[in-house]
Amino acid sequence: MVTPMTQQAEIVAKMRQLIQILAQHNHAYYVMDQPCISDSEYDQLFHQLKALEAQYPELIQADTPTLKVGGQALSKFETVTHAVPMLSLGNVFNYDELLAFARRIEERLPQQSIEYDVELKFDGLAISLWYEKGVLVRGVTRGDGETGEDITQNVKTIRNLPKVLTLQAGNVPDLLEVRGEVLMPKAGFEKLNADHQARGEKTFANPRNAAAGSLRQLDSNIAAARPLAFYAYGIAQCQPHHGLSTMSASLIWLEQLGFAVGERHFVCDSIEAVQSAYEQINQERPQLSVEIDGMVIKVNDLKQQQTLGFLSREPRWATAYKFPAVAALTTVENIDWQVGRTGALTPVARLHPVAVGGVTVSNVTLHNIGEIQRLDVRVGDRVSVYRSGDVIPKVEKVWPEFRPVDAQEVTLPNQCPVCASPVV
Ligand code: IVH
Repeated sequence: MVTPMTQQAEIVAKMRQLIQILAQHNHAYYVMDQPCISDSEYDQLFHQLKALEAQYPELIQADTPTLKVGGQALSKFETVTHAVPMLSLGNVFNYDELLAFARRIEERLPQQSIEYDVELKFDGLAISLWYEKGVLVRGVTRGDGETGEDITQNVKTIRNLPKVLTLQAGNVPDLLEVRGEVLMPKAGFEKLNADHQARGEKTFANPRNAAAGSLRQLDSNIAAARPLAFYAYGIAQCQPHHGLSTMSASLIWLEQLGFAVGERHFVCDSIEAVQSAYEQINQERPQLSVEIDGMVIKVNDLKQQQTLGFLSREPRWATAYKFPAVAALTTVENIDWQVGRTGALTPVARLHPVAVGGVTVSNVTLHNIGEIQRLDVRVGDRVSVYRSGDVIPKVEKVWPEFRPVDAQEVTLPNQCPVCASPVV
């Protein structure tokens, strides 16, 4: 079917608008570590663009983010080109989309039985680690997937990350490049924020931002003081070849070499079993020590993975199965200023109590005046409150269309609410 010219112009304009918005959010997320929309809102925009492109492939714009990985290396650290690009994953959001993913695989592997390796999808920062003769020589961020930043000094301060590899059985490879995620476990994150608040320093919006900020410290002493952890999920290069035939065996081998891997892991022989694993983990998510935003489903057999290969920047043999966001609407009844032990003031929104993911939320920290301005939150506003995997709720979004006429803007108080001394 030929699309008329005027309609074409409209579709291109819509695509350009989505590309521009996504680029702004990518920059805020990857470069500034200051996301200003939730992951689910980002995914929605991304999907809108993908759907348009699927409908009008002849109009796909050259700079569309659907064909590349977001992000850009900062200039502070030395730039390194990845020997094997760090790619992205496609997403599925429900059982039907999961079935469609499996169907695409089955069509390419007719008459073969397919096993799936199901892993936690860590919500941290992807890095790549190089080991030469078992010694950690380099750590690099994902960056834009082609080039990243050399963060070796910071990576060496991560406690659970092996600096030297040992194996009980067999030899340590001459060269091993391991891929995985740097995270700040929930407990460490809460303690870090409590310490920062008590000292009157900036608190972090979530563990991911705290991990990103810590990894980007030029002074590795600061990174060393942060409770970071590394979880391995793949092997980019291994010389001589490890000789393993499945993804799940690779994870076991990585564990034997001294790496931490996800605290849950499944091998499923049907897509129904994948769905059960996903539902189980969605339930157990609050009890996990780290923040996850879904599961990663991978074809377990490495030969089958090779046959399936890649489509553009995503493997055909894997996908992310995202959890639905847990959010609820409520009203801001007040915004108070809490005084920390050192006298630092932190704004706290008092909410009309609302159940979010099974927990009643009535207070949520707004971190600082900058966050109040960014959200443009006022007393009386309708807000969506969001809980990711962790216990800490946050204001995701203000709904200005529901703003009452008498909503009150919040300003920094002149006086301390406790001792009435002037605020500096
Ligand atoms: S495997 C070819 N496994 O998800 C890409 N990725 O959306 C293979 N991620 O940047 C990636 N947990 O950092 C894989 N268990 C896991 C993961 C995982 C988190 C991240 C990864 C990547 C992003 C893609």
